[in-house]
Amino acid sequence: MGDKREAFLGLKAKITAGGGEQKIEKQHALGKMTARERIAALLDPGSFVETDMYVEHRCAYFGMDRTEIPGEGVVTGYGAIDGRCVYVFSQDFTTLGGTLGEMHAAKICKIMDLALKTGAPVIGINDSGGARIQEAVDAMRGYGNIFYRNTIASGVVPQISVIMGPCAGGATYSPALTDFVFMVDKTSNMFITGPQVIKAVTGEDVSVDALGGPMTHNAISGVAHFLSPDERACLADVRRLVGFLPSSNRDLPPVAESPDPADRLCGELETLLPEASNRTYDMKKIILSVADHNDFFEVQPWYAQNIVIGFARIGGRPAGIIASQPQVMAGCIDINASDKASRFISICDSFNVPLVSFVDVPGYMPGLGQEHGGIIRHGAKLLYAYSEATVPKVTVIVRKAYGGAYIAMCSRYMGADMVLAWPGAEIAIMGPDGAANIIFRKEIESSPNPGETRKKKIGEYVAEFATPWQAARRGDIDDVIEPSETRKRVASALGMLAAKRESRPAKKHGNFPV
Ligand code: HXC
Repeated sequence: MGDKREAFLGLKAKITAGGGEQKIEKQHALGKMTARERIAALLDPGSFVETDMYVEHRCAYFGMDRTEIPGEGVVTGYGAIDGRCVYVFSQDFTTLGGTLGEMHAAKICKIMDLALKTGAPVIGINDSGGARIQEAVDAMRGYGNIFYRNTIASGVVPQISVIMGPCAGGATYSPALTDFVFMVDKTSNMFITGPQVIKAVTGEDVSVDALGGPMTHNAISGVAHFLSPDERACLADVRRLVGFLPSSNRDLPPVAESPDPADRLCGELETLLPEASNRTYDMKKIILSVADHNDFFEVQPWYAQNIVIGFARIGGRPAGIIASQPQVMAGCIDINASDKASRFISICDSFNVPLVSFVDVPGYMPGLGQEHGGIIRHGAKLLYAYSEATVPKVTVIVRKAYGGAYIAMCSRYMGADMVLAWPGAEIAIMGPDGAANIIFRKEIESSPNPGETRKKKIGEYVAEFATPWQAARRGDIDDVIEPSETRKRVASALGMLAAKRESRPAKKHGNFPV
C-alpha cells in the first residue's frame, strides 16, 4: 500500500507542477500567475476541488505519443465564491501553451454539464495557444462542443470569461458566447487572425496590442466588459460580479443586509442639474448618490460612454443600472450604445436582476454614418430588450426624454412598472427649437420680426410640452418627485415589485434584431 500511495502522490505532484519550474518562471516574469495560482486567488480559501486531474490526451500524430501534457493543459473543478458554488476551468499555458485538444475540451465540457445540472456559474480562465494543431479535427470538435454548451447554458447559468493570455482564432468564440469578458492590461489579447495573416490578406500592418489588446476590446470593439490592471485585481472583480448574480436563472440575485437606509435622502441631487438644459453634468453622480454606500460596479466603462451600465444595490437589492450620459454625445443613443445596453438588459433579465433606468436622452444619434451603419436595426434592439424583459423595471426621467429615445429608454410603453420624473423633466417628441421650427414655421416666416417670433414660440412650446405634466396627466408617468427622494422612491418601488411575476405568450424564441 505504501508503494502505491507513493506512486499516487508522485503522480499527483508531477501533474500539479504543470510545465515545470522554467515555464512557471517565464509565466511569472510576464506578470502572469499559473493556472492553479489563479484558481486559488479566485475562490474562497481551501474551497477548490479538482476534477479530471489524471486525464491524458490520446493523440499520436507528429510525436505526440511521446509528449506528456500534465493535466491535459487545463485545471478544472468547483469551489466557492462567498460560500456559493461556482465551476472553474483554468488553462495552463505552461503545458504545451494551454492548447486545446480533444481531452482538454472534454474536461471543460464535463464541468459545464455539471454547472447546468446543478445551476451554478461557470468561470473560464483563458490562457492558450488555441486549437492544438497536432489534433486537427479532434481539437475542432472540442471547441465545437464547448460553443454548443455555451449556447445551451446561456441565460441558465452565468458564464464569465477571464482572458489572461492569448486567446486566438476559434478560441475567441467561447468568451464571445458568454455573459461577461474580463481582460488584463498588457498580458491578454484576443483575435480571430493574427497580425501576420492580416498582413498577408489585407496588407495592413498592425501590432498584436492594437489588433486585439485589452484596451482595443474594452474601448473599440466592445468584445470585453472589464479591464483590470493586473490578475489579482481582475479576479477580485470577478468575485465582485458574482456577488450581484444569482447562481442560475432559477434563483433570485442575492439580497444583502445594508446599513445604508433605503429611505436616505439625496440632498446633493437637488442642485446637480445645470440651469440651462443644454449644459451637461455627470450622470454617474446620480447613480452613485442613489446606490447603497455610493457603490456602483460599472460594466463596459470604456465603450459607448454615452450610455452607462452596471450593477448596484439599492436598499440591499441588486439592480442593473442603465443610464444616459449627457457628458458624451449629449447622451444620444447611437449604434454602439444600443448594442451595449440591449445586451446588458437581456443578461439582467435572464438572471432576474431588476432594471433601473435613468433617462436624460435627446434622441437617437442623427447622421449618415449611423443610418448606413444600421441604427434602425441596432436601435431596435433597445426597444426589444426592454420590452422582452419581465423583471421589475423602474425608470427615472431626470431631464430630457425626447421622441423614440424616450420610448426606448424603458418608458411605460416598454412595460416599465414604475416611471418617476424629476420636476424639470422634458417629455416631448423633440427638442423645443426643432419643434418650434416645424409647427410654427409659417408664423415665424411671415412675422415682421422672425427672430423674436421664433423665440416667443419656442417659449410657448417649452411651457406646454418641455415638462413632465402632459405625461403625468395621462398617467404615462406615475409621479413627479423631488430629486432628493430618488433613492427612497426607487428602493420603495423595487421592494413593491419584488414579487412581480409576468409571463409572455408561449413561443420557441423571439427574433432579436441583430
Ligand atoms: C500546438 C502550440 C500551439 C498550437 C502554441 N503551442 N500554440 N502547440 N498548437 N496552436 C506550443 C508551442 O509550440 C510551445 O511548445 C508552447 O505551446 C508555448 O508556445 P510559445 O510559442 O513558445 O509561446 P509564446 O512565445 O508565448 O507564444 C504564444 C502564442 C504562439 C502567441 C500563443 O504560440 C502562437 O501564435 N501560437 C499559435 C496560435 C494559433 O494560431 N493557434 C491556432 C488558432 S486557430 P513548447 O513545446 O515549446 O512548450 C484556431 C482554430 C480553431 O484556434 C477552430 C475551432 C473552431
